Amino acid sequence: MDFLKFFKNKHFAQDMPLGRINRDKIPQHVAIIMDGNGRWAQKRGLPRYAGHKAGVEALKDIVKACIELNIKILSVFAFSTENWKRPKEEVSILMELLTKHLATEKDDLHKNGVKINCIGSLDKLPPSAQTEIAKAHALTKKNHKLILNIALNYGGRLEIVEAAKKLAAKICEGNLKNDEVTEEIFASLLFTGGQADPDLLIRPSGEMRLSNFYLWQTAYTEIYVSSVLWPDFRKDNLIEAIIDYQNRDRRFGGIKK
Ligand code: FPP
Repeated sequence: MDFLKFFKNKHFAQDMPLGRINRDKIPQHVAIIMDGNGRWAQKRGLPRYAGHKAGVEALKDIVKACIELNIKILSVFAFSTENWKRPKEEVSILMELLTKHLATEKDDLHKNGVKINCIGSLDKLPPSAQTEIAKAHALTKKNHKLILNIALNYGGRLEIVEAAKKLAAKICEGNLKNDEVTEEIFASLLFTGGQADPDLLIRPSGEMRLSNFYLWQTAYTEIYVSSVLWPDFRKDNLIEAIIDYQNRDRRFGGIKK
């Protein structure tokens, strides 16, 4: 009887997503476009902000899962340079959520070894958000268990233009020659300078586009689209995405070995 129980449990464990993951092939950097909050709320007859609030809970769960899985970098797209086009009320609710959660979650994230790294045109954010970002950065800057890149007022094109400006300044100041510019030097001037590119980009809610996220960094990133709306996205969904990634044949433009 005991043996039967053990046998059943063993098979049950293998059916669970975690039982199928290859611990030796965990992506180093996972990027997520947190999409579908509005639809999640609409389906429940709730205001859109309820979807964003629920989206924060999903983010908390995924950060925890990344730490457990030993993922080294998690990038999340929280607010794009184009999101200012949304109704004023929605924009201010998103800013409030960000400010409030940075203030309340930073200590816990710090205890868990998370380095909070907000990226984007941060000086255009409301002053209260900038203050909380500065506090979170200062508190967590030495942590290295997980880097959490939060893209805020971020656009891939903006990031490339900003890097081009920094490069032009270096050349004008005589610190670099035109023909010395390499892809590595250019990448070092992006907001993600010094970090490995994402191995896996997850887009929940079924849309199949990059929406101006990590245009440079995703040159060889594996893309996984999930039909699950972001507020419902949990550890098991992340694990399914990783298992799918682990079965991909990454050739980086070369041929199969
Ligand atoms: C896209 O869904 C989601 C956003 C523009 C905001 C994402 C932000 C959060 C989950 C909150 C992040 C908070 C912190 C603390 C970083 P959508 O509104 O475009 O959904 P829809 O496509 O269904 O309308």
